[in-house]
Amino acid sequence: MDIKKLNDEGRELWNRKAKFWDELFGDTGNVFHRRLVEPSVLELLDLRPGETVLDVSCGNGALTRRLAALGARVTAIDFSDQMIELARRRTDSAGLSVEYLVRDVTDEGALLKLGQARFDAITCSMALMDIPIIEPLFRAAASLLRADGRFVFSTMHPAFNSNNPIFLHEKEDCDGAIIERFSIKIRQYLDMPPVKGAGAPGEPTPHFYYHRPLAELLGSAFAAGFALDGLLEPAFSAGDDNEPARLSWSSFPQIPPILSGRLRHA
Ligand SMILES: C[S@@+](CC[C@H](N)C(=O)[O-])C[C@H]1O[C@@H](n2cnc3c(N)ncnc32)[C@H](O)[C@@H]1O
Repeated sequence: MDIKKLNDEGRELWNRKAKFWDELFGDTGNVFHRRLVEPSVLELLDLRPGETVLDVSCGNGALTRRLAALGARVTAIDFSDQMIELARRRTDSAGLSVEYLVRDVTDEGALLKLGQARFDAITCSMALMDIPIIEPLFRAAASLLRADGRFVFSTMHPAFNSNNPIFLHEKEDCDGAIIERFSIKIRQYLDMPPVKGAGAPGEPTPHFYYHRPLAELLGSAFAAGFALDGLLEPAFSAGDDNEPARLSWSSFPQIPPILSGRLRHA
């Protein structure tokens, strides 16, 4: 796997998609973000006002702004200068203060320059699966965090949602009652090469997703000296779906599309 080539392609694609993403997410994020991602990240983070937070791969800054509004002193980074520009604009319009920087999280040296033991917390929402190599980020995070700091992430759930699940919708006549069932079919989990995925509905270009089985995802954090001390698997609720025939994640209240976790120095 040519990491540099994949990462460079990723940067170019995210720059091209920045405007679409910014319109999709607006000020506070899409339904996925508002219902699943942000609540689980905030629960694990348990933020106290005045804390110093680094928001990694911040996109258009939906989570970043929420952290700032909750009283954190936030630095937010992304390798897409277009995303950073759009995030900055929305943050200025909201009257919030955030330090935005263009940084590539595969560049460990650049991350380390942000400052040793500078942050109470690092957040990384819905980005680990977009990054071809995550070891440099975890290693740098171990140094950037204070001794009692935490690293809170959310990512596509490795067991159910980063390995191209096939959505199934079945209808059965059970003794005169029509029963509809939604399920997913998984064909690969342990070894899956990077594959291009369509992303959010309407996303202009597909981009590579990097599936990592749990042992690999968490193993990279453990190898950098972290231990996992919090885990959430948010899913949509049964009543959430107002279009039951649609094969979207809101049809699967029993399957969490997201995995959110909290890491601390071991
Ligand atoms: C799915 S978006 C998530 C954005 C934001 N965290 C959120 O939850 O709305 C993924 C983000 O990861 C960023 N990204 C991908 N690879 C990166 C890298 N190597 N360094 C920094 N950011 C990266 C992309 O530019 C994009 O903004």
